[in-house]
Amino acid sequence: MCGIVGYAGYQPAAPFLLEGLQKLEYRGYDSAGIAVFSDKVRTMKSQGRLATLREKVDAAGGIPGTLGIGHTRWATHGAPNDINSHPHSSMTGRITVVHNGIIENYIPLKEELQAEGIVFRSETDTEVVAQLFDKLYDGDLVGTLIQVVGKIRGSYALGILCKDYPDTLLAVRKDSPMIIGLGEHENYIASDIPAVLDHTRNYYLLNDNEIAIIKADSVELLDLDRNPIHHDVYTVDYDISAAEKGGYDYFMMKEIKEQPNALRTCIGSRIQNGKIQLDKIRLTEEQIKNMGRIHIVACGSAWHAAMVGKYVIEELTRIPVEVDLASEFRYRRPILKPNDLCITISQSGETADTLAALREARANNVHVLSIVNAVGSSIARESDDVLYTMAGPEIAVATTKGYTTQLAVLYLVALKFGMIRDTIPAKLAEKLLHDLEALPDQLESLFNDEEALKQLAKDHQARGTEKTRNNVFIIGRGIDYGASLESSLKLKEISYVHSEAYAAGELKHGTISLIEEGTLVVAVATQKPLYEKLISNVKEVKARGAYVVAIVREGCTDVESVADQVFYIPNTSDLFTSTLTVVPMQLFAYYTAIELGCDVDKPRNLAKSVTVE
Ligand code: F6R
Repeated sequence: MCGIVGYAGYQPAAPFLLEGLQKLEYRGYDSAGIAVFSDKVRTMKSQGRLATLREKVDAAGGIPGTLGIGHTRWATHGAPNDINSHPHSSMTGRITVVHNGIIENYIPLKEELQAEGIVFRSETDTEVVAQLFDKLYDGDLVGTLIQVVGKIRGSYALGILCKDYPDTLLAVRKDSPMIIGLGEHENYIASDIPAVLDHTRNYYLLNDNEIAIIKADSVELLDLDRNPIHHDVYTVDYDISAAEKGGYDYFMMKEIKEQPNALRTCIGSRIQNGKIQLDKIRLTEEQIKNMGRIHIVACGSAWHAAMVGKYVIEELTRIPVEVDLASEFRYRRPILKPNDLCITISQSGETADTLAALREARANNVHVLSIVNAVGSSIARESDDVLYTMAGPEIAVATTKGYTTQLAVLYLVALKFGMIRDTIPAKLAEKLLHDLEALPDQLESLFNDEEALKQLAKDHQARGTEKTRNNVFIIGRGIDYGASLESSLKLKEISYVHSEAYAAGELKHGTISLIEEGTLVVAVATQKPLYEKLISNVKEVKARGAYVVAIVREGCTDVESVADQVFYIPNTSDLFTSTLTVVPMQLFAYYTAIELGCDVDKPRNLAKSVTVE
């Protein structure tokens, strides 16, 4: 989603802004722009990639000035074009603004301003902020901002320049992320940490309804009553190289390969002397014992993790689990009881629908435990309890280590709750803990199949008809169906090859009519009680001409007589296989995207962090 950067210092602002925006590219965008202040505010913006904006700036010989703001836009109101790109200035040119989020009441505000003769240039909701600010402006920058905040509704992180204050950058936020980077004789604003990491590791997290007044040598934080606020300085504790590609062609491959270590951190830090320590959660043993129902709410891949989590939690705790898409949950009047638990899952911690679902649950007095990667994100801060996935920054739009660490935390929650509720026999608990600890090494061993999967991606594109190349089925039963959903999404989102995940038993109720000579069917069959049944489903599609790739446990060699190609995963509990079966499919999706010349890290139309509904 959109990215904001801002600079107040003594060095030229434009290079910082362009570089910072580049670090935020992973959020997804369709246009970009910067505004820099010297004798006046000069703005340059352009549709498309940041490189186009950079060329424009270079062609103009740079933009002078040491105070500035920049933005990458992901269109919500108005087409992605030069005019709708940010920054936006007021009609008089006194106020210039960058904005993330949505101003929900922009239409009545715009109509009011237009009735007073103010002329708008763009179709955006953001321009209303610049025009309104200018109209209300009385020489008091902060006072005017407070008035503006009182009039706008919706979500926003705003960076603001005013012609009368050549040394000041103003920021405010509500429901949209914003950090204040703290440098030496220069300070910054940004929507996310990678934008400032080359310059500083120290930053403040701005909370909702807080204002920051940023100058080269000072940062002042105020609430909406102008009271000073004190914030602790956070220090980024991951290495700067963690936010860069580290020798890989794409972040996605780097992040696939980081999964063993991410799992080691996520699991290893929580199992000590055969016991699970679930950080310092407030949820009591009493609450866990008397829990009525668990509602897991999430979007996209996090929802896929939830689908697997449902099987695992129900099996180990015997608590009924409902899984909801956050965008549905918030509008369907869910039945929530005080002894229920809501688990929200989000890599970014900023997904608007998940955040809204969390608020819905809390408004119904339901305890919310969130599984989040981004420390200090909105979802983390608004939850009763947070379990961090500790995956480190995930830059590629398609999640990989984000998903597998979410699964790991769900396994830990299921085990811990099951132990507290006495629903797991001691011997089984011991075995499961052992299997959990073995997962990182087992996942690592799957990288041995990388070449074979690369070849499979090549062969698939070289074989069959255009139709069969562009339609893949992934089938599984039980937990394998849950994991297939994620495998299918990986392929679709980065290679644009259409695929469907199907519960294998459901195929014959209609979808099998789509199987024809050469259709690729990936059969995931790791669940011991369901293995024979899945093999029968493989035979059904094989008989209709499918090319079958099977993903099974080590030792299940009999599948070689029915499948065209087989990939083996190491032995683990039936409950944990999704962590392993998804990896060959991540690699297959990656190499299919490479084969088709796709931009792996930044698939078209997608954003990393979806902060609008
Ligand atoms: C797919 C993907 C998305 C996210 C979804 C939720 O690869 O990354 O489907 O899983 O947008 O995002 P978070 O986890 O940040 O809430």
